[in-house]
Amino acid sequence: MPQVECASDARAGARADAVADALAAAGAGTGTGAARTDGDAPSSAESRSPFAEKPQDPPLVEIEGLTKHYRTAAGFGGAKRTLRAVDGVSLAIRRGETLGLVGESGCGKSTTGQMAARLLAPTGGRILFRGTDVAGLRGRSSKELRRSIQYVFQDPYASLNPRLPVSRLLEEPLLIHRIGDKRERARRVEEMLERIGLGGGTFGNRYTHELSGGQRQRIGIARALMLEPEFLILDEPVSALDVSVQSQILNLLKELQARLGLTYLFISHDLNVVHYMSDRIAVMYLGKVVELAEVRELYEKPLHPYTQALVSAIPAENRRERRERIVLKGDIPSASAVPSGCAFHTRCPFAFDRCRAEAPVLRPAAPHEGERRVSCHLYSGHH
Ligand SMILES: Nc1ncnc2c1ncn2[C@@H]1O[C@H](COP(=O)(O)OP(=O)(O)OP(=O)(O)O)[C@@H](O)[C@H]1O
Ligand code: SF4
Ligand SMILES: [Mg+2]
Repeated sequence: MPQVECASDARAGARADAVADALAAAGAGTGTGAARTDGDAPSSAESRSPFAEKPQDPPLVEIEGLTKHYRTAAGFGGAKRTLRAVDGVSLAIRRGETLGLVGESGCGKSTTGQMAARLLAPTGGRILFRGTDVAGLRGRSSKELRRSIQYVFQDPYASLNPRLPVSRLLEEPLLIHRIGDKRERARRVEEMLERIGLGGGTFGNRYTHELSGGQRQRIGIARALMLEPEFLILDEPVSALDVSVQSQILNLLKELQARLGLTYLFISHDLNVVHYMSDRIAVMYLGKVVELAEVRELYEKPLHPYTQALVSAIPAENRRERRERIVLKGDIPSASAVPSGCAFHTRCPFAFDRCRAEAPVLRPAAPHEGERRVSCHLYSGHH
């Protein structure tokens, strides 16, 4: 494989190492399942929640051709340009599964997640929840939908009001949705603190600045769970945490998913973390999904050259096969100046003439590849 340069790769590699170590250690210590660091340990797909749907069941969430474009000025006094934050993303998420969404900074992961949570209005496309287009929902059904879909932010410090004690932070969603009387709400708050491992003490009286990063993220997760949602969008939920604390939060998320039958869209730029958490993975590049596969398939046989580069950066001991490291040249181009044809052609070691002229489409990689999808001209021979 050709070697090309990418400035951020060494950092990513070192971080991936540390996370893999911590995950392995945490799994051994807690009995909740170690990170798969060799070919023998079970994959997350095998230890899937009992609530997980079978592939033929209708998905809980369907995202169809979702786009988010911004009009931005190109420099001081410059002409307006279109920034393509998300550019035609289609994904289906099954009940009880974790779909991982990975890609470099700025590729549109959070924008996709925020549109799925209805925190951000799409420019185009639609979102179906239990088969219903969420855009058409009004009144009670809209309110019900808001309860069913919750978003957990990367930085709980920024998303939790520092002036409210923990008990009030957890009670607030119930108050907004007028659920229960004071006593019932207090009972639910205490129950939730127990569930996230912070019960039986004085945590309810504390303020966020009196908590550790891990405790704060537990509260962020607890707050999202107060309304008993079905679908959680977890946007880099452990990126702001120390490596040793990351594994505790990831294991908590797995336990909660198994116990409550939750469905997750798990956003991360960290391939080790996303591997540990996901059943399937969608890889994004410049606003588009370029590959979609079961976790094991994606790590053992990445098809898209971008995925190959990402996977090759995972430390060798965490992969079944030794694969030569592919270091991508340059940074991801700006979303307001997306390259023509295949947006990856400026960094792709395999780019050929067609790649510069024609955009590939996300489609089955081969006739019998099942649900596996890839967007690359190298695999379009059989179509
Ligand atoms: N309100 C906005 N106005 C203009 N551009 C925006 C806005 N929000 C996001 N963008 C741009 O949209 C693109 C996608 O951003 P997004 O936050 O979804 O990326 P991301 O994949 O979540 O990145 P990160 O890993 O850094 O969180 C980026 O180019 C970003 O600069
Ligand atoms: S379409 Fe061409 S440039 Fe794009 S990933 Fe495939 S080979 Fe590389
Ligand atoms: Mg983001």
